[in-house]
Amino acid sequence: MKLNIALLAGDGIGPEIIDQAVKVSNAICKKFNHKIIWKTAITGAAAIEAVGDPYPENTHEICKASDAILFGAIGLPRFDNDPSSKIRPEQGLLKMREKLGLYANIRPTYIFPSLLNKSPLKKERIMNTNFIFLRELTGGIYFGKNGRKDNGNTAYDTCIYKRSEIIRLAKKGFELAMERSKKLCCIDKANVLESSRLWRETVQNMENNYPEVKVSYELVDAVAMRLIQCPNKYDVLITENLFGDILTDEASVISGSMGLMPSASIGEKHALYEPIHGSFPEAAGLNIANPLATILSAAMMFEMSFKLKEESALIREVVDKSLNEGFVTNDLANNNKSYKTSEVGDYIVENILKK
Ligand code: IPM
Ligand code: MG
Repeated sequence: MKLNIALLAGDGIGPEIIDQAVKVSNAICKKFNHKIIWKTAITGAAAIEAVGDPYPENTHEICKASDAILFGAIGLPRFDNDPSSKIRPEQGLLKMREKLGLYANIRPTYIFPSLLNKSPLKKERIMNTNFIFLRELTGGIYFGKNGRKDNGNTAYDTCIYKRSEIIRLAKKGFELAMERSKKLCCIDKANVLESSRLWRETVQNMENNYPEVKVSYELVDAVAMRLIQCPNKYDVLITENLFGDILTDEASVISGSMGLMPSASIGEKHALYEPIHGSFPEAAGLNIANPLATILSAAMMFEMSFKLKEESALIREVVDKSLNEGFVTNDLANNNKSYKTSEVGDYIVENILKK
């Protein structure tokens, strides 16, 4: 099979973790006889520096022409610390989501048995945790009207949702629930927000189409608490953009390291895969960042965009092996020997080719 993949390394540790995912993907293609054509493009701070735009038109063209996009990370502290800066790296990500129509962000949380002791939660609480968030990604307060008035002394951001935006996201949630344990949790703040009441009403109206799925409607503040108390009670969760942003960061540490969790952002035509951690600028260039979330994002890409299940299963199997054998970066090392980013990448490649 021929795979056209756009490669957007981005900022901070982006380039070094992306390098590992590229090595691993190439090894998979060698083993299974596929051919990848990589097209690199710039985004984020790197693109602001080069052309003054965090998601330049040329990058958009490359993304549009590809079968899938593999993405590293975006953001640099220089921009975070300056609220007055007009152009920010994160705008690149938002523009990319909007222009490519990537409306569903899929973020799984599952447990790696060898890392149970790394979780901030007690073992008994997290055993058998395996859930997936579907976060709406192109609407809500992120994309509503915002601005300042009263000479800059009042600021506003508007949370706005159309019924059609809720339906297309919820549909993905119901379909995923049908493939899994037929349990769907719809998260909102319907006791306060009108947009949440539209979410709840819309999802309720869809229930008839999926009679086997049992839907629970839960308030976002309560879910923030229950994710910590009993993460293993959840399966598929759907929610709007900002709630999803916050809850998926919370969910990402349950398994023991944010450096492990992959994600996919999909739309009707395009799909982007990225680790859920950020650009970790303090570690940039040091060859110490954990590449596993990016490598697992590549595994998601093989499975979801190319339906290559065996290929993605092999990546996951070898990642599990590296965790079990302690061939890991410093964040997971448990006072034992730790390995460099590129060494972990090499280890995964060697073990794929050996299989
Ligand atoms: C995420 C990030 C982004 C978001 C930022 C970098 C714009 O936090 O992907 O979760 O808020 O969506
Ligand atoms: Mg976030």
